[in-house]
Amino acid sequence: MTPNDTAALRSYVEFDEVEKSFATKGGKVAAIEALSLTVDEGDFLAIVGPSGCGKSTLLLALAGLTTPTNGTVSLKGRTIAGPVTEAGVVFQNAELLPWRTALENVLLQAEVRKLPKGSLTERARQLLADVGLAGFEDHYPDELSGGMQQRVSLCRALLHDPSILLMDEPFGALDAITRDQVQMDLQNLWLKSRRTVMFITHSIEEAVFLADRVIVLSPRPATIAADIRVDLPRPRHVADRGSAEFTAYVNEIRDEFGKLGIFSDRDPVSR
Ligand SMILES: Nc1ncnc2c1ncn2[C@@H]1O[C@H](COP(=O)(O)OP(=O)(O)OP(=O)(O)O)[C@@H](O)[C@H]1O
Ligand SMILES: [Mg+2]
Repeated sequence: MTPNDTAALRSYVEFDEVEKSFATKGGKVAAIEALSLTVDEGDFLAIVGPSGCGKSTLLLALAGLTTPTNGTVSLKGRTIAGPVTEAGVVFQNAELLPWRTALENVLLQAEVRKLPKGSLTERARQLLADVGLAGFEDHYPDELSGGMQQRVSLCRALLHDPSILLMDEPFGALDAITRDQVQMDLQNLWLKSRRTVMFITHSIEEAVFLADRVIVLSPRPATIAADIRVDLPRPRHVADRGSAEFTAYVNEIRDEFGKLGIFSDRDPVSR
C-alpha cells in the first residue's frame, strides 16, 4: 500500500485538490478551485454558499456524475470514476413519476437497480410510515402535497440503504412549516441509520438544525471559507432554534458570509 492509499483510507469521503471548470460559449467558467475536504463516515455535513458558487457541481462530482478537471474525489478510499451506485440522491424537485403511486415511486429504486422488489416492498412501506405517509401508499403524486412528494422522494433515495445520501436543496421549494416537519423527518430517519449525508442548502438555520458540521463555500470558484462543527445535542427539536447556542451557530455562519462580502449590514439609506 502506498502512503497515498493509506491517506485515502483515513476518510470516508475525500476531495483532494479538486478543480472543476466548464468551457462555455462565453469562455471558461471556473466552478471549483483547489478544494480539499474530508468527511468522516456517519457525519451529517451541510454545505452552504452563495448561489452559483459550485455546490451542485461538488455534489455531482461525488455522485460520479461529473468528472473534476483536476484532482480526485474518493469514497471509502477508492477514486470515483463513474456513477456511484451505492449513493442515494435527492434533488430540489421530488421528480416523481406521475403515473405511479407513492409506493411504486419508492420501488422504482429497486427496479432501476434490478433488486428483488418483493422483499423491498415491506421496507418501502416502513420508510413511508416513518415519514408520516402511512395510508398514502396508493396515492398518486398529484394527490400529495409538495412536502409529501418530497418525503416520497426521500424514501426512494433510502430504499436500497445507501451508504451515503447526497441531497441538493431538497426542501428549498417547501413552505416554512412543511420544511420544519420534513427536517424533523430527515433527522429521525438519519438517527436510525447514521449514514453519511452531504446536504446542500441555502438556509443557514436548516444547516445548523440538521448538520454535525457546516462547510461555508466562497463565491465561485468555490473554496472552503469556513468549517464549523455544530455541537448541539440530538434529537434536535424545532423549539431549540430559539436557544442561545443555536443562534450563536447561525450568527457565526452569517458572520462568515459577511466576511466574504455576501451580506451587507449597511444602513440602506446610506448605500
Ligand atoms: N454543465 C455546465 N456547463 C457550464 N457551466 C456550468 C455547468 N454546470 C455548472 N456550471 C457553472 O458552474 C458554476 C457553479 O454551478 P453550480 O450549479 O455548481 O452552483 P450552485 O452553487 O449549485 O448554485 P445554486 O445555489 O444556484 O444551485 C456556475 O457558474 C454555473 O454556471
Ligand atoms: Mg445548485
